[in-house]
Amino acid sequence: MAELSDYRGRFPILAETTYLINHSLGAMPAAAEERVLEYAHVWKTRGIRAWGEGWWEMALTVGDQIGRLIGAPPGTVSMHQNVTIAEAVVLSCFRFDRPRRRIVYEEGNFPSVRYLYQAQAERGGADILVAADDEGVVEAIDDRTLLVPVTHVLYKTGQIQDVEAIVERAHDHGAMVVLDAYQSVGTVPLDVTALGVDFAVGGSVKWLCGGPGAGWLYVRPDLASVLEPGLTGWQAHARPFDFEPEQDYAEGATRFLTGTPNVPALYAATAGYDVIEEVGIDRIRERSVEQTTLLIELLEEAGFPVGSPSDPARRGGTVVVRPPEAERVDAELAARGILCDHRPDVGLRLGPHFFNTDDELRHTVEQIAELAGQRTSLRP
Ligand SMILES: Cc1ncc(COP(=O)(O)O)c(C=O)c1O
Repeated sequence: MAELSDYRGRFPILAETTYLINHSLGAMPAAAEERVLEYAHVWKTRGIRAWGEGWWEMALTVGDQIGRLIGAPPGTVSMHQNVTIAEAVVLSCFRFDRPRRRIVYEEGNFPSVRYLYQAQAERGGADILVAADDEGVVEAIDDRTLLVPVTHVLYKTGQIQDVEAIVERAHDHGAMVVLDAYQSVGTVPLDVTALGVDFAVGGSVKWLCGGPGAGWLYVRPDLASVLEPGLTGWQAHARPFDFEPEQDYAEGATRFLTGTPNVPALYAATAGYDVIEEVGIDRIRERSVEQTTLLIELLEEAGFPVGSPSDPARRGGTVVVRPPEAERVDAELAARGILCDHRPDVGLRLGPHFFNTDDELRHTVEQIAELAGQRTSLRP
């Protein structure tokens, strides 16, 4: 088995930077460039024939690779442009003019997801209830609840949510859970079948190192056969090339597709998935827990308040820390080749991946300590 450090050579940016921003834009594998060139070559040489030679099916074949990473059976995952579109497809399967029209969502959901559900309240008749945290979500679910959009790992704090408890309560009350697993897949194991979630969504930009434009949607297989999305198109038709005037939904994940697939993004994305599959998610998680534990120890020793959970079982791949003047520290870290980011209210976010070394983590905390010591207010 290859050492984790052996994978560093596959990610060119690691030779130039300390790359701790995998929660935002995962490092690009060199193989992604080859895939994009392969796409261009196929387009150039095969032309229109490319559709019949794999392009048309790519939103499903690539979806099956995501399926292997999330414990979903073949034929249950479809690819979309992003999470917002994937959740919009889910929403479009439901009506909000009936007694069961409540959406219980979590305060910590990603803003784009929040905006989408809020718009359903403003235009579609949905009744929105915002719960403060995962326990609050469990308490809020009742017989009026239709959908429960929650996040596996919160983007602001890296906290893992108690999805089991939410699914159990939702199902007891006839509600359905839409799990946003963007911040978990690729670093925290997820098994959608074992969890019993009704829908799951995510993307490829972050821990999967797959780049933009490759969002995914899992629908529980027994549900898929009865849902009819309103946000639909010809790829969802049972016989798209008959160009029939009325929709006749295909079976399985196909019925959640819309129009022409985002082919170049799907080519690029699989290079990242391949590495994640090769390293193995359990090995990545084990290393991630070591890395986040070390980071937290070092940051606390340096006297900085850490905002991520201290219990590793509740902690995803990101550590958030609040040094004074986080925005300035972030900018100056970038000038020193250390890439992370900051978010309002939470401070710096540090997202190491399996290829980062302990020395890089130590160096980063030393630099944060040095920069935080140079408060602008103290400068002449
Ligand atoms: C939890 C979570 N959901 C969704 C998104 C993004 O959604 P979209 O793919 O629609 O841009 C992000 C980050 O960009 C995220 O952290």
